[in-house]
Amino acid sequence: MDTPESTRADVLVIFGITGDLAKKMTFRALYRMERRGLLDCPIVGVARRDWSSSTLRDHARRAIEDTGESIDETVFDRFAQRLTMVSGDLADQQTYDRVAQAIWGRHSPIFYLEIPPSMFSVVVGGLAHARLTAGARVVLEKPFGHDLASAQTLNDQLHAVLDERQIFRIDHFLGKEAAMDIVFLRFGNSVFEPLWNRDRIQAVQITLAEDFGVDGRGSFYDSVGALRDVVQNHLLQLLGLFAAEPPSVAGADGLRDKRVEVFRAIPPADPKHYVRGQYDGYRAIEGVKPDSRTETFAALRLEIDNWRWAGVPFFIRAGKALPVRATEIRAIYKRPPRLAITHHAPDPNELILRIDPNPGAKLVIQAKEPGADSTRTVDLSLNFADQLGEAPEPYERLLNDAMNGDSSQFTRQDNVEQTWRIMQPLLDAPPPVRSYPPGSWGPHGADALLSGHPGWRDPRREGA
Ligand code: BG6
Repeated sequence: MDTPESTRADVLVIFGITGDLAKKMTFRALYRMERRGLLDCPIVGVARRDWSSSTLRDHARRAIEDTGESIDETVFDRFAQRLTMVSGDLADQQTYDRVAQAIWGRHSPIFYLEIPPSMFSVVVGGLAHARLTAGARVVLEKPFGHDLASAQTLNDQLHAVLDERQIFRIDHFLGKEAAMDIVFLRFGNSVFEPLWNRDRIQAVQITLAEDFGVDGRGSFYDSVGALRDVVQNHLLQLLGLFAAEPPSVAGADGLRDKRVEVFRAIPPADPKHYVRGQYDGYRAIEGVKPDSRTETFAALRLEIDNWRWAGVPFFIRAGKALPVRATEIRAIYKRPPRLAITHHAPDPNELILRIDPNPGAKLVIQAKEPGADSTRTVDLSLNFADQLGEAPEPYERLLNDAMNGDSSQFTRQDNVEQTWRIMQPLLDAPPPVRSYPPGSWGPHGADALLSGHPGWRDPRREGA
């Protein structure tokens, strides 16, 4: 018998097709999939706006053009032919009856929910009532809950009508090729694995810096903040990929099991090691409360209590309006002993895994300073695109995986609940928020958090 995992989807239904995410990401990803020959089914958009299918096609074209993608007319025509529209209120059961008519005869639908999470259970309930959930997969956009209790409630509501294997929770960082590459670099090279543990590494830093603010999405962001927006999900997933053991079985759960094992070994975060910042000018943004205490910057320390990582601090920072856009993981090795020939202890080696922009890896090592008996820092640097070519974007990868029923790069229920468990003390007892000037590296406390350990790295250093 076909299972949701093994059957290629025969129709893609997108709830919220008129929204911002579809405009910025989804249409382009689907268009690129069409160009690569990866689309083979109709696409039905569902939204409250009363659009005809031809309005939807015009909108799709503009959305793709606005991303800067150049349009090949033959590819676009093929793509546009797939698009049809069902308009209706998501709270009205008749909308789901119309969806049922639109996909009549299809047996393996994907329902992609690009809608506010408060509507997830309403839509899933409507689909179930219209008898559309058997054989279906449901892809859910983040955020998945706003704390541990709400994530558990949402999971319970979904599980009332869906099996876990039918649920695909998106964390688009898991669809980034550079994030997936962490595992391949580690386990595809015998040189790295012996260097990936507490004997060699003194600290790990994970940074997601953005050089823009939250203009245009103030009201969403103000109810969320940096911790919920990118730390609980994206950055903990990067930590999980970096710290996991090799998978012992193939298939979707092989790696997911190992990431969850890492999360289980992380004690709840301690608010004493948590710094919150808000950039000056944030409160003047439309949709932000004038007395908002929401953090636009978060820095924190986590530990992993297992044999491989005990004693190695993992420092995480994320912020808006910082000096640069860069996402990277930095492993700092232990300092070598002082050498008789150099008269000083060389600086520690570092391995930088760059996720964005220009994904790549860099090994920071010491070499002889020309003309002197001392060492100097140099790096062995790899830009993935130079050697490996252009990689698909996260949504191309994730939507195609979902259509194939491959859930490896989606977050499972236990994964989501573990990450909220780790963050929960920071949500319950957040420290005061400190202001910082836009274009700086956040409040001063972020440096104090690292006291006794190497300071934060500026990703702009040495051609990073
Ligand atoms: C999103 C957050 O999930 O991730 C945004 O809501 C953030 O605030 C974005 O800017 C970062 O993702 P990327 O892929 O653009 O680095």
